[in-house]
Amino acid sequence: MKHPIKNNVSWIGKIDWELRRFHGDEYSTHRGSTYNSYLIEAEKVAVIDTVWAPFAKEYVAQLEQAIDLGKIDYVIANHAEIDHSGALPELMRRIPDVPIYCTANGVKSLRGHYHQDWNFRPVKTGDKLSLGSKELIFVEAPMLHWPDSMFCYLTGDDILFSNDAFGQHYASEHMFNDLVDQAELMAECIKYYANILTPFSELVTKKIQEVLGFNLPVDTICTSHGVVWRDNPIQIVQRYLAWAEGYQENQISLVYDTMWNGTRIMAESIATGLREADPAVNLKLFNLAKSDRNDVITEIFKSRALIVGSPTINRGILTSIAGLLEEVKGLKFRNKKAAAFGCYGWSGESVKLLRERLESAGFPVVEDGLRCLWNPDREGVAACLEFGRRLAGLL
Ligand code: FEO
Repeated sequence: MKHPIKNNVSWIGKIDWELRRFHGDEYSTHRGSTYNSYLIEAEKVAVIDTVWAPFAKEYVAQLEQAIDLGKIDYVIANHAEIDHSGALPELMRRIPDVPIYCTANGVKSLRGHYHQDWNFRPVKTGDKLSLGSKELIFVEAPMLHWPDSMFCYLTGDDILFSNDAFGQHYASEHMFNDLVDQAELMAECIKYYANILTPFSELVTKKIQEVLGFNLPVDTICTSHGVVWRDNPIQIVQRYLAWAEGYQENQISLVYDTMWNGTRIMAESIATGLREADPAVNLKLFNLAKSDRNDVITEIFKSRALIVGSPTINRGILTSIAGLLEEVKGLKFRNKKAAAFGCYGWSGESVKLLRERLESAGFPVVEDGLRCLWNPDREGVAACLEFGRRLAGLL
């Protein structure tokens, strides 16, 4: 379980190949995840973060094989969320007097979760902890992505322990970014950013600039999920800077749900018209009821526009689409236009509702949207084709 990272720094976490849902049931993890904990064995010994609660006993047992627990001088809790602090109760039961270094918000959060009065040592940006010949420098990172989040930097080895930032839900027996499939790695990185970090994009940019402003050399980035960035670690920092600035590719996502295929026929006809008018755009269609919501959100994040379709049901829209728009609203995507469509049988409110929800989620909506009565007939399909051609010039 102990895996060398650099000099006297080791990984002591858990690779969770079985994980398929995270944050309760909110986030799909097709490739599993890891909970990364690190052990620094300098003149003083520090443990940085732990693992998710179900692995607490396994973690402490393995840690005990790696080092005599009595030799641990400091515990660093970069983040109080359960996937990183979950093994703290088991560990602190064994070493109850060892100080825990975290932010002031971390103290509140850890107390709130575990109701324990551990030996907390709150730290602020710039505070240092000597490990002998090396020291840890703390950097608060509030709302990246919780109020308590922080980074720490190890001098001498030039390692940034960034916790959730720059991570990805990606299980691998390889520890390092240069050893894994690069397409898989970047797919998981952008999914992680799109689904978790987008609401905090302005803070991402400011925090990265602040850390770069310290002029500390960064040789390695040790995140709390996924691989350790040892090969050109700045590449993921640069990706974050790009993703934080209203990121878009030449892509349009067309997301719909359908009851009796009318809205599906509309979606495919709109796509045909759009493709005729703009052959270069990467146009992707998703029936949301048959797609993974987090994967669709990632595709929306990559898009320059979102076209959403739902039939009318009970004067409203289908629940899959309603749930997606609620989540997208919270994610605060920027720099993406939108349009709406849907078929109906009698009352026909869906397109108006979609337009309103897209606008309230911050998407500039072009046109009033397109409605089709019952299943689209030849004229209805022609209207969809024309709508798609018009959208090519508007989105
Ligand atoms: Fe990986 Fe915010 O916990």
